[in-house]
Amino acid sequence: MKIFKSIKSFSSWRGNQHNTTIGFVPTMGALHKGHLSLVKKSTNQCDLTIVSLFVNELQFSPNEDFKKYPRNIKKDIDLLEKHNVDIVIVPDASKIYNQNFSFLIQELDLSKKLEGFSRPQFFNGVTTIVCKLFNLVQPQRVYFGMKDIQQLCIIKKMISDLNYNIKLISCPTIRDVNGLAISSRNQYLSSKGKNEASIVYQTLKMGKELIQKNRVSIKVVKQKMSTQLLVHNFKIEYISIASLENFEEISEYQKHKTVISLAVIYENVRLIDNVII
Ligand code: PAJ
Repeated sequence: MKIFKSIKSFSSWRGNQHNTTIGFVPTMGALHKGHLSLVKKSTNQCDLTIVSLFVNELQFSPNEDFKKYPRNIKKDIDLLEKHNVDIVIVPDASKIYNQNFSFLIQELDLSKKLEGFSRPQFFNGVTTIVCKLFNLVQPQRVYFGMKDIQQLCIIKKMISDLNYNIKLISCPTIRDVNGLAISSRNQYLSSKGKNEASIVYQTLKMGKELIQKNRVSIKVVKQKMSTQLLVHNFKIEYISIASLENFEEISEYQKHKTVISLAVIYENVRLIDNVII
């Protein structure tokens, strides 16, 4: 496995790769089973798998956890080696965003809703770094997790709107045995908190079942979900039942793809999760 810290040397290596299918998994490190499921898909489907480890400050707002975001490069590299990754890129922030950096890649519709409403700079930071990484890596396939469903849809849109010749592979959310979606930020939770946080997925499943039975309105489904979360002391940022196509809230269930998503705070940790109907 080759590790590139320099963008220049990565680019010159990339220039010499011809006729190989390159799979790319962008991450912010602190790797867990969720990330590794993306890596496994890529190594199964592609000739070469490239993983980036980069905690992208541009997608954090000043009051968020950029400084304390978990970092463990050595452990990450060991894990990637064990998972047969070919190339790891660990770029230096000052080389990714040099002092004169003055560009943003901005999506103007989906990125304003839900996560984008709660975290106004977030998707600008994500699309800018992902665009830069796509330009550097020039992959044929990229792997994104459904855990961050809105991010996945925005990147899909970016690929189409900006004419990237890339296939995006959606990968299912990997969960703990108790249903909690695995996330690098789960390590901020106490062990009691981790148990309690399983309520999040139970609530999403309850919402899905209620909608599928179609006996109560969408409004009532949201009320029932909200009550269940509040009873268990979750602070709710949003509960959304929306069309997967455009993230517009729906008022009645129709047969096209619907996503129930939410963001809650528990023990000061922000948790997001979703299910698709
Ligand atoms: P990060 O949170 O490290 O996630 C990297 C990838 O792993 C994303 O595609 C995410 O959806 C996926 N992932 C995380 N937890 C998962 C889980 N439990 N099951 C399945 N997939 C999971 O997302 C980012 O980094 C950044 O925004 C990034 C795209 C790298 C841009 O900086």
